[in-house]
Amino acid sequence: MTTQANAPPVSLVQQLAARYAGREPGQRPCQIRIPVEHYTDQARFEAERKQLFLRRPLIICHESQIPDPGDSIVHDWLGLPLITLRDRTGAIGTFMNVCRHRGMRLVQAQGSACLRSLVCPYHHWTYGLDGALRNIPRSESFGDIDMNTLGLKALPTELRNGLVWVSAETGRPMELDKHLAGLGRDLDQFALADYHFFQQNVRTVNCNWKLIQDAFLDGYHVVRLHKNTVGAFFPDAVSTSDCLGDHIRSAVARNEISEAVGTPAAALDLRRHATFAYTVFPNAILIFHPDYTSVISLFPLGPDQTVFAHSMLTPQPVSSQKERDHYERSFHLIDQGVFQAEDIFVAEGAQRGMRSGANKELLFGGLEEPAAQFHQVIARELA
Ligand code: FES
Ligand SMILES: [Fe+2]
Repeated sequence: MTTQANAPPVSLVQQLAARYAGREPGQRPCQIRIPVEHYTDQARFEAERKQLFLRRPLIICHESQIPDPGDSIVHDWLGLPLITLRDRTGAIGTFMNVCRHRGMRLVQAQGSACLRSLVCPYHHWTYGLDGALRNIPRSESFGDIDMNTLGLKALPTELRNGLVWVSAETGRPMELDKHLAGLGRDLDQFALADYHFFQQNVRTVNCNWKLIQDAFLDGYHVVRLHKNTVGAFFPDAVSTSDCLGDHIRSAVARNEISEAVGTPAAALDLRRHATFAYTVFPNAILIFHPDYTSVISLFPLGPDQTVFAHSMLTPQPVSSQKERDHYERSFHLIDQGVFQAEDIFVAEGAQRGMRSGANKELLFGGLEEPAAQFHQVIARELA
């Protein structure tokens, strides 16, 4: 794998065209082994959660999923009870979903909600959308109480490239630019900030979170595992990748790559000639399909259980029934047909296989080298 930090994604399409035309060799052969216990061990899971998920900025949603004041996502995805919401000024914040009086959970159900305020069911302490404590019933019983010190506990939350990023590390700034390492420039080329939330499916899958990342860093399986769905759109194993900081930028050639051979860079179409997938360290995958975008965030609940949140974004707001029908068909194909029935199917099957003791290690070859690179970044972070 070549490392071309900050090179624009168009150079990857040029590389795919050269490989397709046989002018450039494909990936070098290799054999890389990853211990099975990295996917099964409880202590390893806890170290990953602490060092990666509780320390790094994580993508929670696209901002268009919560467009209006009060629009909220209630989630326990980081192992903490949280609410990410838009306040009356339009700003997006994340708060602990925990009352400052005697600790009751404020909003019970996880998922999307539209809130006017946050009222604790226990004694009805009431908080504004900005997290400030607004009302204490029978406040005289507390004597001289300073309500300003009893707002909801906030987590660092920032908006970048249309994505809402949250860090569980409350004690220090998020340092999102350092984390992104130039990724934002690529996301601008795909106009991610201009996309619109269409639909989401949040499911709990029975596998280690890294098995899902491995599947999206592997050009080897595309025409095989996906032969009945999207496999026919791709030539076999014409793929490439490079690194942007800790993130991995992968591109798999689509059949239209034949048009890109000898085409000047300015005339290349990133979404038409290739399917780009960005593994955003540690837990997100951004996939740029020809006419929509998938945002996947993974949140491990245990060594063999993971929340898989998949959102579809469309280039314009869906305004007609015809467009709605089109994108609903696309969502069903990608979410149920490709992800659930194929990628998650093999990830769950591999997790079960690990419990059998048949393998002490998993083997990655040259076409899967980006996955091995991802494991190297994790190893470095845990060291
Ligand atoms: S615990 Fe929330 S109002 Fe008492
Ligand atoms: Fe796949």
